[in-house]
Amino acid sequence: EQINKGNYEHYMQKEIHEQPESLKTTMRGRLIRGGSCKAKTVLLGGLKDHFKTIRRSRRIVFIGCGTSYNAALAARPILEELSGVPVTMEIASDLLDRQGPIYREDTAVFVSQSGETADTLNALEYALENGALCVGITNTVGSAIARRTHCGVHINAGAEIGVASTKAYTSQIVVMAMLALAIGGDAISSQTRREAIIDGLFDLPNKVREVLKLDQEMKDLAKLLIAEQSLLVFGRGYNYATALEGALKVKEVALMHSEGMLAGEMKHGPLALVDENLTIIVIATRDSCFSKQQSVIQQLHARKGRLIVMCSKGDAVSACPGGFGRVIEVPQVEDCLQPVINIVPLQLLAYHLTVLRGYNVDQPRNLAKSVTTQ
Ligand code: G6P
Repeated sequence: EQINKGNYEHYMQKEIHEQPESLKTTMRGRLIRGGSCKAKTVLLGGLKDHFKTIRRSRRIVFIGCGTSYNAALAARPILEELSGVPVTMEIASDLLDRQGPIYREDTAVFVSQSGETADTLNALEYALENGALCVGITNTVGSAIARRTHCGVHINAGAEIGVASTKAYTSQIVVMAMLALAIGGDAISSQTRREAIIDGLFDLPNKVREVLKLDQEMKDLAKLLIAEQSLLVFGRGYNYATALEGALKVKEVALMHSEGMLAGEMKHGPLALVDENLTIIVIATRDSCFSKQQSVIQQLHARKGRLIVMCSKGDAVSACPGGFGRVIEVPQVEDCLQPVINIVPLQLLAYHLTVLRGYNVDQPRNLAKSVTTQ
């Protein structure tokens, strides 16, 4: 066991730090950046016979649980932008509870690290019965979801042992960004955007390596937060999912109450919670939502919330004018890939909080890596 952890204390720590490599493996052989006259493209062999059907489908429905659901949520905006097909989200158990509508004209995408989660597998059987094209995105070759879907993509992130999913999350987002590029085809109107995303993907492992340097800073922050009762995380747009996933990491391993919230909903309830005793992480990296997040930060500051602002490198003064609050500066990448960067400091924070609070990092109480019963 010790050998598999290499120089690391815990699997979760190892898996957080190996993300530059796992992302490379996820993209290997799938991104093509040819010479000057050769277009930049994406190859997803497992889907090649199905792109026509996916492009013509009435909608794309993402279905998953936990971290896998959050990864799909992070990829949703770029799928919507590049595919032109409406994209909806379903938590597997909720789809089953409602017996929600799934049609023959739908493409249902099942996202699951293990490929064995009972809720997701049952939702897959339900979608098959309803005649949808079923696509699997899993990390486990030969898993039930990989076998039962019509086609799919393996994320190739390597075995993930820690119950809290980390490297699978970032690889899932990258696969779904590649899926968006592949479905989007080669329309001239989006060529510049597509090429910028492909360049961004090539450079992503380097940028993840850079953001991992925040390890000590996150450990210091964890020391400050060790006795908190609650931690809120606010995000929006591409980083709504980052807020949900960051909070999920903190609650599942550090056993601290934490909620991820859509910043646009702040004034419709959560604002009532804010006072000088509440710590709030606000994700405000540069994208089209930046000015709205600046205003959220101002409002939370006015209510004396204890703020931690995640912003793009060099942007501390604009994101947090007056120097109030603590700032986490992260490298800036193409907006739709920013969730891959932004989750890393939150993974590190959750990890260090867990160790400092004395809890079991790799086997949090009451949780299983793969929930194979309903
Ligand atoms: C369990 C795990 C989570 C995981 C979820 C979905 O609850 O503890 O970490 O995100 O299942 O698992 P899957 O294998 O389907 O991605």
